[in-house]
Amino acid sequence: MPVTIVLGGQWGDEGKGKITDALAASADVVVRPNGSTNAGHTVVTDDGVFKLHVIPSGILYPHCTCVIGAGVAVSPPDLLREIATLRERHARLGQLYLSDRAHVIMPYHPLLDAYEEARRGSAGIGTTLRGNGPAFTDKVARRGIRIADLLPGAEAVLRRKLEILLPEKNTLFVHLYGREPVDLDELLHEAQRWGEQLAPYVIAAEVFVQDAVAAGKHVIVEAAQGTMLDLDYGTYPYVTSSPPTAAGACQGAGIAPTQVDRVIGVFKAYTTRVGAGPFPTELHDDTGQLLRERGREYGTTTGRPRRVGWFDAVAARYTARLNGMTEAALTKLDMLDPLPEIRICTGYRLGDQLLSAPPARIDLYEAVEPVYETLPGWRADTSSATSFADLPVEARRYVERIEELIGVPITMIGIGPARRQIVWRHAEALA
Ligand code: IMP
Repeated sequence: MPVTIVLGGQWGDEGKGKITDALAASADVVVRPNGSTNAGHTVVTDDGVFKLHVIPSGILYPHCTCVIGAGVAVSPPDLLREIATLRERHARLGQLYLSDRAHVIMPYHPLLDAYEEARRGSAGIGTTLRGNGPAFTDKVARRGIRIADLLPGAEAVLRRKLEILLPEKNTLFVHLYGREPVDLDELLHEAQRWGEQLAPYVIAAEVFVQDAVAAGKHVIVEAAQGTMLDLDYGTYPYVTSSPPTAAGACQGAGIAPTQVDRVIGVFKAYTTRVGAGPFPTELHDDTGQLLRERGREYGTTTGRPRRVGWFDAVAARYTARLNGMTEAALTKLDMLDPLPEIRICTGYRLGDQLLSAPPARIDLYEAVEPVYETLPGWRADTSSATSFADLPVEARRYVERIEELIGVPITMIGIGPARRQIVWRHAEALA
C-alpha cells in the first residue's frame, strides 16, 4: 500500500491532522500538496497539542520525512516560525523538505487579502486573511514568486520579477485601497534573507516523492481544507484557492493518479464551516452551541467560532464520489454523546424538487431546505471505546447509516483528541 491520500470531505477542519498522525506511525513520507498558512491541522501527542499549518502532520515522528509540495503557497516567515516553535517543543522531529516550485506568499498578499475583504464588506468570503487567495491568483496569472526565486544566486531573477509586479500591486494599494506603496529594495532584501534561511530545506520535491514511490515507501499525501471548499466543486465563490481534492492532492504532491492505492475521506460526525457561504444543516439553537463548546469549534488558524450543523450526507456523498474515496474516517463521534436524538440530512428540497447533489447556483444552494432523518442518540460516554463492538448500539447504527448514505466504508472512528482515541474498524485499515 505505498500511496494513501488523506483529504477533507466537508468544509475543512474534519480532523485530517489526527488521522494523518495515526497513519504516519507506519509511513515513510508525508506530503502536503495544497493550501498555505490558511490551514490548521491539530495533532495531540503525549507531549501536548501541536497546531500545524504548512508542515505535514508526520513531522512529530522522527522516522517520517515531511515534504511541502509544489501545490502549497508558503509564507517564509510563517514557515520559519512554525519550524522554530516545533524545534523548541519537540526534541526528535522528522526531516523536512520544501519544494523549489512552491509559490511564495509575499508580504503584499495578506495585505491584499485584508483590503479586498474590507472592500467587499458584507459580501466578503470570510477568508483566513493569510494571503492565500492573492498568492494563488498570482500563480494562475503566471506572475507568482516561487521558492526557487528566493534562493542565493537568483537575485537578478527576483529583482526583474518584482520590478514588473510591484508597480501593479502599488497601483492597487495607493489608488484602489488608499494605502502606502511597498518598497522594492526593502522587499528584495527581506526575500533574500528568507531564501538563505530556507535553502537547507529546498529540494525538487516531486523527484524525491517519485523516488520514494518507486522504492515502495509508504507515502501519505495530507491534503488541506475540504472538498466543499474546492474552486470547481465547492460553494463557489465561498471557497479556497487551491484544490483540496484527490486530483489536487496528486497534482500538488507530484504523484500520478495511477500510483494511488487508498483515498481516505475524513468527515466530522457533524458538520462545521468557517467563513461565509451556504450551510443547509446549520444549527442556530442550543444544540449548535453545545456542539461548538464541546467540540471546541474555534478556528485553529484564526480563532474564529465555527458554524456548526448536522451531518450533511448530500454533500458527503458528493465529495465521496468526486474523490473516489476508498474509505472514510469519522471524527469527533464522542461530541454527540449527550444528544437525545441526532439528525442526518439525506436530501435537499428546493421548491417541489428533491436534489441529491449540491446545485451550482449559490442562491439556490442558500435556498435549499434539508430533508432529515432522525436517529436515536446513545447518551453514553464513547471516549474510551477500544473496538466498534464497544460502542453503544445507537452509535454503531449512526456510523453504519452514514456509511450507507455516502457509499464508503468507515474504517476509523475518532472518539477523542488523543492518539489512542481511534476505533479501527477493519483489520486492513491498520496496514
Ligand atoms: P482562504 O483559503 O483564506 O482564502 O479562505 C477561503 C475560505 O476557505 C474561507 O471560508 C475560509 O474560512 C476557508 N478555509 C480556508 N482554510 C481553511 C481550513 O483550513 N479549514 C477550514 N476552512 C478553511
